[in-house]
Amino acid sequence: MAIREITKYGKDEILRKVCRTQLNFDDRLAQILDDMADTMYEADGVGLAAPQIGILRRYCVIDVGEGIVELINPVIMETKGEQHGQEGCLSVPGRYEDVTRPMYVKVRAQNRKGENIIVEGEGLMARALCHEIEHLDGVLFIDKV
Ligand code: CO
Repeated sequence: MAIREITKYGKDEILRKVCRTQLNFDDRLAQILDDMADTMYEADGVGLAAPQIGILRRYCVIDVGEGIVELINPVIMETKGEQHGQEGCLSVPGRYEDVTRPMYVKVRAQNRKGENIIVEGEGLMARALCHEIEHLDGVLFIDKV
């Protein structure tokens, strides 16, 4: 377990790149996911995507206060409703903007063992799911303002 350096907007083009599918569900992935959780908690964030620690792969971690959720190769399957609220990002320190997001999101993904999972979220969890999954396509919340 280790704290990784978080890439910052404006300094690192990696945040703008499209990440590749994660194919290996091995000890290395588990180690990185553990590090991502440590890094997220240490920075007081509710989510962290792999490109934010310099890895161009499709996975992220989220904890909105209900425990850690790890999503590998996540895909949004369904959204419902709408919410408006302030959003920030560990890669864009000090900046908070109003962003419109769905109120409900359903995601299919894999867990760290490569098993298929479904994750549903409402409110803050729906917001975090959208935000983190967009990171995997090089999209930042400031693009939505
Ligand atoms: Co972010």
